Amino acid sequence: MKTNINLQPYNSFGFNATAKYFVDINDTKELDRLFKTPEYKNEKHLILSGGNNILLTKEFFDGIVILMNNKGIKTVADEGNQVIVRAQAGEDWPEFVKKMVEKGLYGVENLAHIPGKVGAAPVQNIGAYGMELKDSFLKCEAVNLETGRKRVFDNKECVFGYRSSIFKTMLRGQYVITSVDFRLTKNAELKLEYGNIRSYLSEQGINEPSLQQLHDAICAIRDAKLPDPKAIGNAGSFFKNPVIKAEQFEILQQQYPEMPHYDEPNGKVKVPAGWLIEQAGWKGWHDEHVGVYEKQALVLVHYGGGSGNDIVTLAQRIQASVKEKFGITINPEVNFI
Ligand code: EPU
Repeated sequence: MKTNINLQPYNSFGFNATAKYFVDINDTKELDRLFKTPEYKNEKHLILSGGNNILLTKEFFDGIVILMNNKGIKTVADEGNQVIVRAQAGEDWPEFVKKMVEKGLYGVENLAHIPGKVGAAPVQNIGAYGMELKDSFLKCEAVNLETGRKRVFDNKECVFGYRSSIFKTMLRGQYVITSVDFRLTKNAELKLEYGNIRSYLSEQGINEPSLQQLHDAICAIRDAKLPDPKAIGNAGSFFKNPVIKAEQFEILQQQYPEMPHYDEPNGKVKVPAGWLIEQAGWKGWHDEHVGVYEKQALVLVHYGGGSGNDIVTLAQRIQASVKEKFGITINPEVNFI
């Protein structure tokens, strides 16, 4: 077990924070060994995956940081059109998607290029361009952090919601996901309806894209809008898109007829937080250290030299001004540590 490790390389915002203890898990057996150590019994712990969805708000983490790094991708069943693929938690998510697309397997292509690791994907049910992880998720294996016992969670047991699952709600902090099984297919219809996917493809002269062409288009669309964490610190969308009551939406729509929106089940309406933040005047705002990304207002960025608390303060100011202008509360998607 290492001591006093700087977590700067392990969080995509790139903030400095020191972990009292740090363990790299390359094999699930190493978890069993870790659970028996006196340090594990006495200290609190933090599971770290890609560190793409966390905000470190303290300079010192007084406990053990457990980095999931176990690797491996294998086909566990291949029957007719369906293929079940098992990926270990430490696999890089965008690389995993790329490999599945290269194999001609459908089901995760619209989730291309989302930074992170496989094990973290179910926790917040990652989603993009009309697809969510839950659509191809069959089951995952997880280990109880208190008892060390393994448990399999099927799709239903994960209680997936919009950027949410049981691992973020009822069982928060209680399990570590060690592998995920995906139900993929050898053939499927591509999802091209979201946003500018179709128009982007037709600009390239592609009207009937292949799986690979769709994958590459999504990578390009994301690159154009979202900052690369290796260049500018960020954690993707900082806030969730708020879901409001239809009555509230109708009143707002009279004042803002151009307000983008998506109908949700049970008469509710989802409004893009990026639009609200932009209308509140924040897009491109920055000080020396942190700011609101100029191409996508939902993304808060760290230019260097700042701290997690600079982001906390900025997020609070944005929340307050969106609330004041629209009467809508926006909540973070990112986990505060
Ligand atoms: N918009 C603005 N100004 C902005 C940003 C967005 O007016 O600065 C408007 C756009 O014009 C569009 C609408 O808001 O009408 C939606 O924008 P976009 O399609 O970019 O998607 P989003 O709702 O802002 C969500 C996800 C992203 C995901 C995209 C594409 C959440 C919290 N975010 O963003 O996920 O990539 O859709 O599917 O649901 C992430 O979770 O980290 C993430 C990047």
